[in-house]
Amino acid sequence: MSRKSYSRRTFIKHSSLTGIGTVMAPKIGSVAKVNTHFSSEEPAILGGSPVRSKDWPSWPQWSPGENEKSVLNVLRKGVWSRDKVVSEFEKRWAETIGTKRCLAVVNGTNALIASLVQMDIGAGDEVIVPPYTWISTVQAVLIAGAMPVFVDTDPETYQIDAEKIEKKITPRTRAILPVHILGMPANMVRIMDIAKKHNLLVLEDACQAWLAEINHQIVGTFGHAGCYSFQTTKHLPLGEGGAIVSDDEDFMDRCYSYHNVGFPYGGVIGDVGAGSVMLGTKLRITEYQAAIGITLLQDLDEQTTIRNKRAAYLRSKIEEIPGIVPYKLYDNVTRCAFHMFAFRYREDEFNGLSRSDFLNSLRAEGIPCMGGYAPFLNTQPYIQHAFNTKNFKAMYPKEMLDFQNYSEQNQCPENDALCNEAVWLFQSMLLADESDMEDVADAILKIKDNAESIRKGLKKT
Ligand SMILES: Cc1ncc(COP(=O)(O)O)c(C=O)c1O
Repeated sequence: MSRKSYSRRTFIKHSSLTGIGTVMAPKIGSVAKVNTHFSSEEPAILGGSPVRSKDWPSWPQWSPGENEKSVLNVLRKGVWSRDKVVSEFEKRWAETIGTKRCLAVVNGTNALIASLVQMDIGAGDEVIVPPYTWISTVQAVLIAGAMPVFVDTDPETYQIDAEKIEKKITPRTRAILPVHILGMPANMVRIMDIAKKHNLLVLEDACQAWLAEINHQIVGTFGHAGCYSFQTTKHLPLGEGGAIVSDDEDFMDRCYSYHNVGFPYGGVIGDVGAGSVMLGTKLRITEYQAAIGITLLQDLDEQTTIRNKRAAYLRSKIEEIPGIVPYKLYDNVTRCAFHMFAFRYREDEFNGLSRSDFLNSLRAEGIPCMGGYAPFLNTQPYIQHAFNTKNFKAMYPKEMLDFQNYSEQNQCPENDALCNEAVWLFQSMLLADESDMEDVADAILKIKDNAESIRKGLKKT
């Protein structure tokens, strides 16, 4: 029988009879056993034909006509260092996000560092962070000279577990640094309540969450400041780039000076005699990067809508499959960025097929995917390395730099379990058609139906 005749709809219809759920189960004509629909097909990883051989949408998306014109104009003008185009990009991003100010910087990592430093967070301060994040979130805290304090992950939403934050607050705590990881909003309403109660600053790492919303308010605007990344894989790609947004004018003036070697806000770039008023570094983006940002910003809203639609559709197609547990969102989330489409994979429901073999099988079926972050971000050697630096030794008492003790205090078992079970699909796949999402569901079902033969087949090789 052809693959199409073993449709996902058939699977779910039959599944519901075995108690998996009724959501997708209309009238049922015949009864079939679960896990038989693809069983006659050879898995691609063992040499069979893949479910999908069509390409997925590529990234970044760039139209030579429309997009290249504005960048070429800038290049031909010959003004390449920070000037009017960067200011225009900042204005547009602030308008898009809904903040008074925006500063464009070289990347999201330095947007975080600059923000922390200008919040005067440093030696002796503790900053609460999640462990399910890109390393830059935590590196930024260490570079600022502060101590990261980890709060475990909510296993369903993958965000920092807001209910566990208060237990980690000490007299040294200065800030909470929630991350809207994978483009899904963290529990900001609860986090802001806690911050208010304990008089803490909040810096939002929205580096993966462009235009995601809680109650129709865009993330990055809840805390004192928000940071974004515009690196190539991101939804507004400039090659490299980042931004800080905030309504606090003084803070933004300081961030500006900091990003321009301490020269006062409002000064003219290139005026070498202006005099530097504060400690700073150089984080300026170029005019042509900003031109790329301005032209691609036109597509962001529509692409975000498509990603949300496709993610909801794909979720509905796979959520009934035993062993596949898709992400959950907090009730007040009104929009996501979906930097990744994520679910947890339970190998016991797939005849003991390991996650790594599942990922390889899925790739072989034509579905690009990855397992995401490694566990133990909270205890990896970079922290010990920071503790061994001259600066940390000068800033902290010896007891606080006892790495073994630190590791014990910062255990995050929920996060470790998530890191071992997560499966990520890439954001650009969500720009494909609805029918393409069915290929993902079909590939998962095919692997499920053949899990045992794949496990045995791979063991032999
Ligand atoms: C959650 C998070 N924070 C910070 C960053 C740092 O951004 P950048 O790569 O632009 O430095 C990233 C980038 O991937 C990220 O995903």
